[in-house]
Amino acid sequence: MPTDFATALANTAAAVNQMLDDLLPTAAGPEGRVVEAMRYAALDGGKRFRPFLVCAGADIMGVDANNALRTAAAIEMVHCYSLIHDDLPAMDNDDLRRGRPTVHKHWDEATAILAGDALLTRAFEVLAEKATNPIAEIRTTLVADLAKAAGAAGMVGGQMVDLAAPSLGLDVNGLTHLQALKTGALIAFSASAGAILKGDAEARLALHAYGLDLGLAFQVTDDILDVEGLSGEIGKTPGKDKAAGKPTFVSQLGLGGAKTLARSLTERAVGHLDRFADQARLLRQAAVFVLERKS
Ligand code: IPE
Ligand code: IPE
Ligand code: MG
Ligand code: MG
Ligand code: MG
Repeated sequence: MPTDFATALANTAAAVNQMLDDLLPTAAGPEGRVVEAMRYAALDGGKRFRPFLVCAGADIMGVDANNALRTAAAIEMVHCYSLIHDDLPAMDNDDLRRGRPTVHKHWDEATAILAGDALLTRAFEVLAEKATNPIAEIRTTLVADLAKAAGAAGMVGGQMVDLAAPSLGLDVNGLTHLQALKTGALIAFSASAGAILKGDAEARLALHAYGLDLGLAFQVTDDILDVEGLSGEIGKTPGKDKAAGKPTFVSQLGLGGAKTLARSLTERAVGHLDRFADQARLLRQAAVFVLERKS
């Protein structure tokens, strides 16, 4: 991979876009409507930060680039599914995502639910296919770890707490637990996927720990951007968290406190990379990106 973060992120985004285009079905027949919605949600947009983490981690581990890209595309499918459902009226009720109408606005709620379901299931199909890794045990680990990160012990569990949070009276520890599930788990899996593809258990632990702290920092800056971000840059409607009465790192700590927390989380994240020495320089730059991002 190139040594410069911005170039590496742009290259990964282009490569994962191509891979997603190849892996997603093409619209045909009466079921074509859900396929169009899947492609709308997964192609053309997004920072592709999770795919970047997969590819940068895989690069450190010396993993085959195509295996890494397929894994990255599978994780991005799960992420895009989570965004479609997150935007539904029953959840955050958002009309704008990645600068475009949300899937339920462009189509309808039933199509949005089904497009999310189909992206989620296609992701696991991709991981289970031999082209993702020739070793069955490694594919099984990818499937099991992604399932854990995405399910009730991870993202879905976090989304459940997030919806209940306005009436839960969470303290910062409770909020941290929510965000570790909602956002941290999938980012931690993304960072560790390269080590899983290599079958390196120690590296997997270190990269997972890095990803969990980085993922928490990523959600802190998401909360900050909901307050400070510009709609034209974030591609979403700002101010939604406060309007929904959601506890966020900003509501609990103030903007200054949230920024301090993001910084200390990224420092802690980078601390898990020592064993990789100079090879982890892109992952260190990724931590700076999380702090400074405007979208
Ligand atoms: C938004 O994720 C939802 C969170 C988990 C914070 P991203 O900020 O990665 O969204 P895209 O993929 O770039 O649109
Ligand atoms: C959603 O968090 C995280 C997901 C698991 C989808 P948010 O609700 O804060 O994400 P945005 O701000 O809508 O992207
Ligand atoms: Mg939400
Ligand atoms: Mg939302
Ligand atoms: Mg948000």
